[in-house]
Amino acid sequence: MMTIDQYKFAGKKAIVRVDFNVPLNENGKITDDTRIRGALPTLKKILADGGAVIIMSHMGKPKGKVNPKMSLAQIKDAVSKALGCPVSFAPDCAKAADAAKALKMGEALLLENLRFYPEEEGKPVGIDKADPAYEDAKKAMKASQKEFAKTLASYADCYVMDAFGTAHRKHASTAVIADYFDADNKMLGYLMEKEVQAVDNVLSNIKRPFVAIMGGSKVSTKIGIIENLLGKVDKLILCGGMTYTFMKAHGGEIGNSIVELDKLDVALGVEKMAKENGVELILGEDSVCCTGYDFSTFSVKPGAEIKVFPSNAIEDGWDGLDAGPVSREKFAKAIEGAKTILWNGPAGCFECEEFTPGSRAVGEAVAKATAEGAFSLIGGGDSVACVNKFGLADKVSYISTGGGALLEAIEGKVLPGVAAIKG
Ligand code: 3PG
Repeated sequence: MMTIDQYKFAGKKAIVRVDFNVPLNENGKITDDTRIRGALPTLKKILADGGAVIIMSHMGKPKGKVNPKMSLAQIKDAVSKALGCPVSFAPDCAKAADAAKALKMGEALLLENLRFYPEEEGKPVGIDKADPAYEDAKKAMKASQKEFAKTLASYADCYVMDAFGTAHRKHASTAVIADYFDADNKMLGYLMEKEVQAVDNVLSNIKRPFVAIMGGSKVSTKIGIIENLLGKVDKLILCGGMTYTFMKAHGGEIGNSIVELDKLDVALGVEKMAKENGVELILGEDSVCCTGYDFSTFSVKPGAEIKVFPSNAIEDGWDGLDAGPVSREKFAKAIEGAKTILWNGPAGCFECEEFTPGSRAVGEAVAKATAEGAFSLIGGGDSVACVNKFGLADKVSYISTGGGALLEAIEGKVLPGVAAIKG
């Protein structure tokens, strides 16, 4: 397999798929540029070697239509600043042949949002799956997707896949395009290599004890990863809103806390599987609860009260929003001495100061274990936001740029963006 270090970029144009799906505020300003910074080593290497880069990405979910709010023109200047060179812009990614041709070595060209074309995702638009004509529409779309990928490929001499955040999508630019380059002219970028290595550290190259911390509100969205981890970890901490589905499954009183009533059997199944695999399952025993939390502004409503309850005996009218002091100590103790750590999902509504202590306790324990030699991988937007908020970003081993992609990789799925290069 060709690698980015082996390839001779001098005099070559490289089309690089990055994930610049960065969050923007209402003024179109980037609020977190982690993903742009993540792609810089690859882009800079190509330029420094005397090549030219054609940068392509999606932003948001425009569903195959042009949407100025999701235009990559908004981030052109930030990309240029980060790269330290002027970046030109192609306002139509499928009609950028002339711009690509005009590109000189050492220059960069940014293509407009790939998802302005439905061909990028390759799903038929405006037709229901139940419609008898759907299968034909799907076939037709797959054919146009190939044409779209071929057009993108025609702009360059080689293809670099460096969009880990989108590597779980089998899209024109993340996978199909690779068919139009021979094995010597396609490769993974540095970010992909680092992310794949980090996942490998927690899936294959495990140093024990291995402790995983899964947080977030729903057990249903994490069940695939939890099941896969139960075959690998020594301890599994389940925290955040999903705690209450477990409490309810055992007949606990959870007040107004978030719960998935149709997933109580799933929670009991996780407990059974943990037992069978000899995994210590750790749940929060107590919770910081509130009588009035505004989830849209992440704030405590005026006059609302805050109190700690046992997680399985929360009174009506109270909502469990963070791990209580006993739980925090229990989590920190479980993380102590770990040699491999995976953290995905916060332990509470960390966006609000009153409910940060749970996630902070987890983050600090992870940082401490890392300082004592553990490999720690943090993934998923909210846990990454936590480590940033608590100033712990440089105290953990690796922060993934992937959300869904990381979860799928840890579930043990082969990512189409990786398979397209590795075969
Ligand atoms: C992400 O933000 O997780 C990636 O950019 C992928 O986006 P998607 O879920 O819209 O495919």
